[in-house]
Amino acid sequence: MIEIHHLYKKYGSDVHVLEDINLTIDRGEFVFVVGSSGAGKSTLLKLLLREILPTKGFIKVFGRDITRLRKREIPYFRRNIGMIFQDFRLLEDRNVFENVAFSLRVIGVSTREINKRVPLTLKLVGLQDKALKNPGELSGGEQQRVCVARAIVNRPAVVLADEPTGNLDPNTSMEIMKLLHDINVRGTTVIVATHAKELVDYFQKRVVVLEGNRVISDRERGVYLNAY
Ligand SMILES: Nc1ncnc2c1ncn2[C@@H]1O[C@H](COP(=O)(O)OP(=O)(O)OP(=O)(O)O)[C@@H](O)[C@H]1O
Ligand SMILES: [Mg+2]
Repeated sequence: MIEIHHLYKKYGSDVHVLEDINLTIDRGEFVFVVGSSGAGKSTLLKLLLREILPTKGFIKVFGRDITRLRKREIPYFRRNIGMIFQDFRLLEDRNVFENVAFSLRVIGVSTREINKRVPLTLKLVGLQDKALKNPGELSGGEQQRVCVARAIVNRPAVVLADEPTGNLDPNTSMEIMKLLHDINVRGTTVIVATHAKELVDYFQKRVVVLEGNRVISDRERGVYLNAY
């Protein structure tokens, strides 16, 4: 589903962030991307979302080289990808329902369909009772659940999460990671960049380690502690 070929990324003229990255991620996989701060995890996710372009190399997603997408094709490509950030990025002046409905409204999904899909998705993340609250009235963990709901409401094939538990306490972090795991079990490919050692060790999923601009380890059922 995702093929990364000899990917290089430089910011400016000489700051190499990624060098010769090669990765294949199959449909339905759950992948942790770990590595020290500045190793290039967020850069890799931004490349996958086609937020930025590589300096060299290419990325195939669903069989298409996304480095060659035309500008007007990018929004269509992104409909198949759900993105979750560390800092939530919710619309503070809209309630939970509207935050989740927003991306569906943008792409012209009917109100009738939205009124079906949003409550189902909120139920899936355990927020059926919070639909009318604003983000400011929710705990950090609940806000991140809204973000998970927002990322999956359009039933994307892939969910990318950049430090989804970075602002949460250990118990809440575990809940969010379990939620991502459930989503994966239902068939969505999930890629999570994280520093959360205990969670990586607990879930025993594929672990890709970025260090010194490169992938230094890629293991099927890896642990974080021994990864370096
Ligand atoms: N827009 C940018 N312009 C210039 N340099 C950048 C830019 N974005 C990131 N960098 C640099 O690229 C390197 C990798 O950054 P990136 O955010 O991908 O790391 P990371 O692995 O996500 O780190 P963290 O764990 O702290 O989130 C860092 O040295 C960073 O300073
Ligand atoms: Mg980062």
